[in-house]
Amino acid sequence: MALFDTETRRSGDAATRALSVTTVETDFVEKVYQNIAKVYDYTYGPTLHPGRLEAIEKMAIRPGTHVLEVGVGTGINLSLYPRNCRVTGIDLSSKMLERAQERIDSKGLHHCELAEMDATQLKFADNSFDVVYAPYVISVVPDPVAVAREMYRVCRPGGRVIILNHFKSANPLMGRIERAISPMTVHIGFTADLDLPAFLAQADLHPVSMEKVNVPRMWTLVTVVKD
Ligand SMILES: C[S@@+](CC[C@H](N)C(=O)[O-])C[C@H]1O[C@@H](n2cnc3c(N)ncnc32)[C@H](O)[C@@H]1O
Repeated sequence: MALFDTETRRSGDAATRALSVTTVETDFVEKVYQNIAKVYDYTYGPTLHPGRLEAIEKMAIRPGTHVLEVGVGTGINLSLYPRNCRVTGIDLSSKMLERAQERIDSKGLHHCELAEMDATQLKFADNSFDVVYAPYVISVVPDPVAVAREMYRVCRPGGRVIILNHFKSANPLMGRIERAISPMTVHIGFTADLDLPAFLAQADLHPVSMEKVNVPRMWTLVTVVKD
């Protein structure tokens, strides 16, 4: 894991500045999630759940909608989708996916299917999905911009790209704390200081809405409609 922390990289305008003070490699992220798969639902389950519920409610998924969930993990969202839609969930971690498959089997979630895949190289054709959703993933991956571009590519025109995530606070003190702890938080699966304006500028995303979710309301639900 490399660390770059110079003022030069952090400053500058949104189109060019570093998204975080930390960088991680895909192998490192995969190892972290292979290790925490067994405890994920206890550690990241209840605290992040209000945001998951708000996101699904806001999506107002109609019958027949095909949803791609990027970074589906243990499948904690799967039972929240209406059964009259179709859900494809992808993840890098085989151990997280094993848990998701157990959930599908035990709950009879026949509208859901899974695939092991890297979100930076989605094996789907352009314009394949009505909704492409990444809950709590974009600050986990080494290259958030590449993931966002892939999400946009596989979303159909008029469809929605939805990102639920924690981003660096606009409050200067909180922002400094998040930046300071980010090199530590990567070891438990995420960067704490992802810069939202820089991410949106570099991924060329133009949200139609951005709402604060969870308690405290420190996470953001970003909705983009593909042109
Ligand atoms: C914090 S968990 C989120 C799980 C679930 N979406 C939720 O709501 O709790 C992040 C997930 O992203 C996955 N992930 C990390 N990097 C990835 C990548 N490059 N491609 C696909 N999945 C990735 C991890 O394996 C992990 O399951």
